[in-house]
Amino acid sequence: MNKRVFAKNTLNTWHPMNSSKSAILKDKLNDTCLNQLFLEARSFNVWQDREVSIELIHELYDLFKMGPTSANGCPARFLILVSEEAKKRLAPCLMEKNIHKTIQAPVNIIVAWETKFYEYFNILTPNINWKSFFENKPELIHSTVFRNSSLQGAYMILAARALGLDCGPISGFDNNKVDLEFFANTTWKSNFICNIGYGDISGINQRNPRLDFSTACKVI
Ligand SMILES: Cc1cc2nc3c(=O)[nH]c(=O)nc-3n(C[C@H](O)[C@H](O)[C@H](O)COP(=O)(O)O)c2cc1C
Repeated sequence: MNKRVFAKNTLNTWHPMNSSKSAILKDKLNDTCLNQLFLEARSFNVWQDREVSIELIHELYDLFKMGPTSANGCPARFLILVSEEAKKRLAPCLMEKNIHKTIQAPVNIIVAWETKFYEYFNILTPNINWKSFFENKPELIHSTVFRNSSLQGAYMILAARALGLDCGPISGFDNNKVDLEFFANTTWKSNFICNIGYGDISGINQRNPRLDFSTACKVI
Protein backbone atom coordinates (compact mmCIF):
# COMPACT_ATOMS: atom_id res chain seq x y z
CA MET A 1 0.00 0.00 0.00
CA ASN A 2 1.22 3.52 -0.79
CA LYS A 3 2.47 5.41 2.21
CA ARG A 4 2.17 9.17 2.08
CA VAL A 5 5.15 11.10 3.36
CA PHE A 6 4.52 14.04 5.64
CA ALA A 7 6.72 16.85 6.84
CA LYS A 8 6.31 19.69 9.28
CA ASN A 9 6.01 23.10 7.67
CA THR A 10 7.03 26.43 9.11
CA LEU A 11 3.73 26.74 11.01
CA ASN A 12 4.64 23.51 12.80
CA THR A 13 1.62 21.71 11.34
CA TRP A 14 1.87 18.52 9.32
CA HIS A 15 1.47 18.77 5.54
CA PRO A 16 1.71 16.05 2.89
CA MET A 17 5.07 16.66 1.21
CA ASN A 18 3.89 15.80 -2.28
CA SER A 19 0.97 18.23 -2.46
CA SER A 20 1.45 21.81 -3.63
CA LYS A 21 -1.81 23.06 -2.04
CA SER A 22 -1.81 20.79 0.97
CA ALA A 23 -4.45 20.95 3.67
CA ILE A 24 -3.45 21.09 7.29
CA LEU A 25 -3.77 17.64 8.79
CA LYS A 26 -6.46 17.26 11.43
CA ASP A 27 -6.36 15.14 14.53
CA LYS A 28 -8.34 11.91 14.50
CA LEU A 29 -11.58 12.38 16.43
CA ASN A 30 -11.64 10.68 19.79
CA ASP A 31 -13.72 7.56 20.54
CA THR A 32 -16.52 9.59 22.14
CA CYS A 33 -17.01 11.46 18.86
CA LEU A 34 -16.71 8.36 16.68
CA ASN A 35 -19.25 6.54 18.86
CA GLN A 36 -21.68 9.46 18.71
CA LEU A 37 -21.37 9.84 14.95
CA PHE A 38 -21.21 6.21 13.87
CA LEU A 39 -20.57 3.32 16.21
CA GLU A 40 -23.33 3.90 18.77
CA ALA A 41 -25.61 6.08 16.65
CA ARG A 42 -28.89 4.44 15.68
CA SER A 43 -31.90 5.11 13.48
CA PHE A 44 -34.80 6.07 15.76
CA ASN A 45 -38.49 5.19 15.63
CA VAL A 46 -39.67 6.62 18.95
CA TRP A 47 -38.95 10.10 20.28
CA GLN A 48 -38.56 11.68 23.69
CA ASP A 49 -40.97 14.47 24.51
CA ARG A 50 -38.20 17.04 24.15
CA GLU A 51 -38.34 20.09 21.96
CA VAL A 52 -35.81 20.90 19.25
CA SER A 53 -35.34 24.66 19.05
CA ILE A 54 -35.43 26.48 15.75
CA GLU A 55 -32.03 27.97 16.68
CA LEU A 56 -30.62 24.44 16.78
CA ILE A 57 -32.09 23.71 13.35
CA HIS A 58 -30.36 26.85 12.04
CA GLU A 59 -27.11 25.68 13.64
CA LEU A 60 -27.61 22.28 12.02
CA TYR A 61 -28.03 23.83 8.56
CA ASP A 62 -25.00 26.07 9.01
CA LEU A 63 -22.93 22.99 9.83
CA PHE A 64 -24.01 20.53 7.14
CA LYS A 65 -24.22 23.11 4.33
CA MET A 66 -20.40 22.98 4.29
CA GLY A 67 -20.35 19.38 3.01
CA PRO A 68 -19.03 19.09 -0.55
CA THR A 69 -21.24 18.88 -3.66
CA SER A 70 -20.44 18.70 -7.41
CA ALA A 71 -19.18 22.11 -8.57
CA ASN A 72 -20.44 23.44 -5.23
CA GLY A 73 -23.94 23.26 -6.76
CA CYS A 74 -25.70 22.67 -3.40
CA PRO A 75 -28.88 21.35 -5.11
CA ALA A 76 -30.62 20.09 -1.96
CA ARG A 77 -33.47 22.04 -0.43
CA PHE A 78 -35.03 21.37 2.96
CA LEU A 79 -38.63 21.75 4.00
CA ILE A 80 -38.71 21.74 7.79
CA LEU A 81 -41.98 20.57 9.30
CA VAL A 82 -42.58 21.46 12.94
CA SER A 83 -46.25 22.41 13.15
CA GLU A 84 -49.19 20.07 13.78
CA GLU A 85 -50.75 21.40 10.62
CA ALA A 86 -47.74 20.52 8.45
CA LYS A 87 -47.54 17.03 9.98
CA LYS A 88 -51.25 16.47 9.24
CA ARG A 89 -50.56 17.24 5.59
CA LEU A 90 -47.60 14.81 5.55
CA ALA A 91 -49.33 11.84 7.22
CA PRO A 92 -51.42 10.68 4.20
CA CYS A 93 -48.27 10.59 2.06
CA LEU A 94 -46.53 8.07 4.33
CA MET A 95 -46.48 4.28 4.34
CA GLU A 96 -48.64 3.02 7.19
CA LYS A 97 -45.66 1.77 9.27
CA ASN A 98 -43.95 5.15 9.02
CA ILE A 99 -46.86 7.34 10.11
CA HIS A 100 -46.57 7.19 13.88
CA LYS A 101 -42.78 7.45 14.09
CA THR A 102 -42.84 10.44 11.74
CA ILE A 103 -45.70 12.36 13.27
CA GLN A 104 -44.31 11.81 16.76
CA ALA A 105 -40.88 13.25 15.88
CA PRO A 106 -40.45 16.92 16.84
CA VAL A 107 -39.08 17.79 13.40
CA ASN A 108 -39.50 16.21 9.97
CA ILE A 109 -37.20 17.47 7.26
CA ILE A 110 -38.17 16.77 3.67
CA VAL A 111 -34.85 16.58 1.85
CA ALA A 112 -35.63 17.79 -1.63
CA TRP A 113 -33.74 19.09 -4.62
CA GLU A 114 -34.03 22.22 -6.72
CA THR A 115 -34.50 21.12 -10.33
CA LYS A 116 -33.20 24.50 -11.50
CA PHE A 117 -30.19 24.32 -9.18
CA TYR A 118 -27.96 25.65 -11.99
CA GLU A 119 -29.61 29.09 -11.63
CA TYR A 120 -27.65 29.55 -8.39
CA PHE A 121 -24.15 29.08 -9.79
CA ASN A 122 -23.69 32.84 -10.08
CA ILE A 123 -23.69 32.89 -6.26
CA LEU A 124 -22.13 29.49 -5.58
CA THR A 125 -19.39 29.26 -8.20
CA PRO A 126 -19.15 32.78 -9.63
CA ASN A 127 -15.82 32.17 -11.36
CA ILE A 128 -17.03 29.34 -13.68
CA ASN A 129 -20.01 29.26 -16.06
CA TRP A 130 -21.49 26.00 -14.76
CA LYS A 131 -25.02 27.13 -15.61
CA SER A 132 -24.50 26.62 -19.35
CA PHE A 133 -22.94 23.22 -18.64
CA PHE A 134 -26.13 21.92 -16.96
CA GLU A 135 -28.99 23.91 -18.50
CA ASN A 136 -31.30 21.96 -20.91
CA LYS A 137 -29.68 18.60 -20.06
CA PRO A 138 -32.42 16.77 -18.14
CA GLU A 139 -30.50 13.51 -17.60
CA LEU A 140 -27.39 15.27 -16.35
CA ILE A 141 -29.54 17.50 -14.14
CA HIS A 142 -31.37 14.53 -12.66
CA SER A 143 -28.28 12.46 -11.90
CA THR A 144 -26.59 15.52 -10.40
CA VAL A 145 -29.46 16.65 -8.18
CA PHE A 146 -30.27 13.13 -7.00
CA ARG A 147 -26.66 12.27 -6.18
CA ASN A 148 -25.85 15.56 -4.48
CA SER A 149 -29.08 16.04 -2.55
CA SER A 150 -28.65 12.49 -1.21
CA LEU A 151 -25.12 13.39 -0.13
CA GLN A 152 -26.36 16.58 1.51
CA GLY A 153 -29.02 14.58 3.34
CA ALA A 154 -26.30 12.26 4.62
CA TYR A 155 -24.21 15.22 5.79
CA MET A 156 -27.32 16.43 7.59
CA ILE A 157 -27.70 13.14 9.48
CA LEU A 158 -24.09 13.20 10.64
CA ALA A 159 -24.23 16.89 11.54
CA ALA A 160 -27.40 16.26 13.57
CA ARG A 161 -25.62 13.49 15.46
CA ALA A 162 -22.64 15.79 16.01
CA LEU A 163 -25.01 18.30 17.64
CA GLY A 164 -26.42 15.64 19.96
CA LEU A 165 -29.61 15.10 17.97
CA ASP A 166 -30.95 11.77 16.70
CA CYS A 167 -32.32 10.92 13.27
CA GLY A 168 -34.77 8.51 11.71
CA PRO A 169 -34.49 8.69 7.94
CA ILE A 170 -37.37 7.30 5.88
CA SER A 171 -37.99 6.69 2.20
CA GLY A 172 -41.21 4.74 2.75
CA PHE A 173 -43.58 7.40 1.42
CA ASP A 174 -45.13 8.42 -1.87
CA ASN A 175 -42.81 11.02 -3.41
CA ASN A 176 -45.47 12.10 -5.92
CA LYS A 177 -47.96 12.76 -3.13
CA VAL A 178 -45.38 14.74 -1.15
CA ASP A 179 -44.46 16.75 -4.23
CA LEU A 180 -48.12 17.53 -4.94
CA GLU A 181 -48.88 18.41 -1.33
CA PHE A 182 -45.82 20.54 -0.60
CA PHE A 183 -44.11 21.45 -3.87
CA ALA A 184 -46.92 21.98 -6.40
CA ASN A 185 -46.04 24.77 -8.84
CA THR A 186 -42.46 24.87 -7.59
CA THR A 187 -39.22 23.42 -8.95
CA TRP A 188 -38.51 21.41 -5.78
CA LYS A 189 -38.83 17.58 -5.75
CA SER A 190 -38.67 15.31 -2.71
CA ASN A 191 -35.82 12.86 -2.16
CA PHE A 192 -36.25 11.42 1.35
CA ILE A 193 -37.50 12.47 4.77
CA CYS A 194 -35.44 12.66 7.93
CA ASN A 195 -37.15 12.68 11.30
CA ILE A 196 -35.13 14.55 13.90
CA GLY A 197 -35.34 14.87 17.65
CA TYR A 198 -34.00 13.16 20.74
CA GLY A 199 -34.49 9.42 20.29
CA ASP A 200 -36.11 7.10 22.79
CA ILE A 201 -33.99 3.96 22.94
CA SER A 202 -37.00 1.88 24.05
CA GLY A 203 -38.33 1.86 20.49
CA ILE A 204 -35.10 0.85 18.83
CA ASN A 205 -34.89 -2.13 16.43
CA GLN A 206 -32.14 -4.72 16.84
CA ARG A 207 -28.82 -3.56 15.42
CA ASN A 208 -28.24 -5.39 12.17
CA PRO A 209 -24.76 -6.27 10.94
CA ARG A 210 -22.87 -4.38 8.23
CA LEU A 211 -20.88 -5.99 5.45
CA ASP A 212 -17.27 -6.71 6.26
CA PHE A 213 -14.44 -5.05 4.40
CA SER A 214 -13.69 -8.06 2.16
CA THR A 215 -17.30 -8.17 0.88
CA ALA A 216 -17.89 -4.47 0.43
CA CYS A 217 -14.46 -3.22 -0.62
CA LYS A 218 -11.82 -4.07 -3.16
CA VAL A 219 -8.36 -2.59 -3.03
CA ILE A 220 -6.68 -2.50 -6.44
C1 LIG B 1 -32.58 6.68 2.93
C2 LIG B 1 -33.14 5.85 4.06
C3 LIG B 1 -34.44 5.42 4.01
C4 LIG B 1 -34.99 4.70 5.06
N1 LIG B 1 -36.33 4.39 5.03
C5 LIG B 1 -36.91 3.86 6.12
C6 LIG B 1 -38.31 3.70 6.17
O1 LIG B 1 -39.05 4.01 5.25
N2 LIG B 1 -38.84 3.19 7.32
C7 LIG B 1 -38.07 2.83 8.38
O2 LIG B 1 -38.62 2.38 9.40
N3 LIG B 1 -36.72 2.98 8.35
C8 LIG B 1 -36.13 3.48 7.26
N4 LIG B 1 -34.78 3.69 7.23
C9 LIG B 1 -33.97 3.31 8.41
C10 LIG B 1 -33.03 2.12 8.11
O3 LIG B 1 -33.77 0.93 8.10
C11 LIG B 1 -31.93 2.13 9.16
O4 LIG B 1 -31.20 3.31 9.01
C12 LIG B 1 -31.00 0.93 9.01
O5 LIG B 1 -31.69 -0.26 9.23
C13 LIG B 1 -29.83 1.02 9.98
O6 LIG B 1 -30.32 1.11 11.31
P1 LIG B 1 -29.33 1.60 12.48
O7 LIG B 1 -28.88 2.97 12.06
O8 LIG B 1 -30.18 1.63 13.71
O9 LIG B 1 -28.22 0.63 12.57
C14 LIG B 1 -34.19 4.35 6.18
C15 LIG B 1 -32.85 4.77 6.21
C16 LIG B 1 -32.33 5.52 5.18
C17 LIG B 1 -30.90 6.00 5.27
